[in-house]
Amino acid sequence: MNSINRRKFISNSIKGSAAVAAGTTMFGAFPTARAKSANEKVILGLIGAGGRAHSHTTGMSKLPNVEFKYVCDIDEQRGGEHIAELEKAQGYAPKRISDMRRVFDDKDVDAVVITTPEHWHALATVWACQAGKDVYVEKCPSITIWESRKAIEAARKYNRIVQVGFQNRSAPYAASAREYIQSGKLGKVVLVKVCNLLGGNPFTPKPDSAPPPGLDWDAWLGPAPEVPYNVGRHRGWYDWWDYKGGALTDDGSHQLDLARMVLGNPPHPRSTFCVGGNFAYHSKREAPELQAITYDFGDFAMTCDSGNSTNHLRKSNGEERYGKKWPHWPSNSERIEIYGTKQLMYLGRHGIGWQVMEADGKVVAEEKGYHPDQWHQPNFIECIRTRKRPNSDIEQAHYSSCLVHLGNLSYRVGNKQLVFDGESERFANNDAANQLLKPAYRKHYRIPEVV
Ligand SMILES: NC(=O)c1ccc[n+]([C@@H]2O[C@H](COP(=O)([O-])OP(=O)(O)OC[C@H]3O[C@@H](n4cnc5c(N)ncnc54)[C@H](O)[C@@H]3O)[C@@H](O)[C@H]2O)c1
Repeated sequence: MNSINRRKFISNSIKGSAAVAAGTTMFGAFPTARAKSANEKVILGLIGAGGRAHSHTTGMSKLPNVEFKYVCDIDEQRGGEHIAELEKAQGYAPKRISDMRRVFDDKDVDAVVITTPEHWHALATVWACQAGKDVYVEKCPSITIWESRKAIEAARKYNRIVQVGFQNRSAPYAASAREYIQSGKLGKVVLVKVCNLLGGNPFTPKPDSAPPPGLDWDAWLGPAPEVPYNVGRHRGWYDWWDYKGGALTDDGSHQLDLARMVLGNPPHPRSTFCVGGNFAYHSKREAPELQAITYDFGDFAMTCDSGNSTNHLRKSNGEERYGKKWPHWPSNSERIEIYGTKQLMYLGRHGIGWQVMEADGKVVAEEKGYHPDQWHQPNFIECIRTRKRPNSDIEQAHYSSCLVHLGNLSYRVGNKQLVFDGESERFANNDAANQLLKPAYRKHYRIPEVV
């Protein structure tokens, strides 16, 4: 954000606090929610025009009566392709803008699709809810436990639909896996092993430099601490606590969420213990190269092995995601194993599906899947129209992302077991971990205690 915009923003924020007190929000009157018929247009704004956004602009703009009015990015180099694709799909070009608050201010806009890096997700969600917009926000919806709790509060207070990009929740194979488990055929579930063992390279620190032309680095940082431009942060944000939280926050969050969903959405675990480290490359990476995590759910145990140093395993390929081919489970880097007292279920995301096996490897039940964006995106649009809770509502997404944050916090405080009070969402035995429940927001990018 340049200094002129920042001044304008500060003055808006001050007006905002007064407005909330007076029963309005910083974006105007307290929003109301209205169902829409199938014939009425749903107008969207895209916030964050990077790689993931393509799936949503192409997918959602194909749905009947859905249009994107804005493509917003703080990097002038980004957004061109999305605008061209959308112009082709909808017959007019969306406006290219750089400040998301212009989308929130526009009364024509029904909803926003937030595909920025993670550190912006919760704040942008809260602002959007306050402005009366429905939200599709990519996973993870937060970088800390506190902020996705605030996103739930904003969604409920302003009656907004908030769908999170945990798309497996809309997959028919996930629903049938849950039914199979609930039928009792697997026996009592005693152990769930979540695998997120990806390949990777050593982390190489990069020197600070001038930002590339067209990038507003201050706006990219947004709520995160002010630091000089560094290409390693900008292009490698996945590895930093201030912006994301490594492999666990990234792909790991999908597997943890899918595991929770098929188990019937258990609430928070009682305790979490992570042993993690940069065991492979001994680099100075913040998010560790390897984490082995154990969650105590009271009457079953869940483990999650996650990291970027096992190059011999591989993610599911196209034939497995979109075709009929099953992965070779032991070498699949993103499998979930659900151990019942009678049977074992292998479950894969990205459209893989599930198989139940007996001891000799004989498959006794299965359902092959297909990549679930095709159901998840329409579910969001349908919920904007009907005002029903979406498949991946912010509340369950919060519980799933807490598994990520719990694993990362256990590592960050020195591989310590953390006892978690699910009621207060605070740790009973570790003050250092409690200090990390909320990000140290920059002054004008704070989510308030009362949203
Ligand atoms: N659900 C999935 O399967 C899936 C897959 C890939 C990525 N993702 C998620 O999507 C998100 C984006 O990932 P990506 O790979 O597209 O990243 P990316 O770096 O390619 O794109 C992010 C874009 O956001 C822009 N941006 C940053 N701050 C902004 C701001 N304040 N306002 C507007 N634009 C801003 C950046 O300039 C960039 O163009 C991440 O949260 C990631 O975890 C989800």
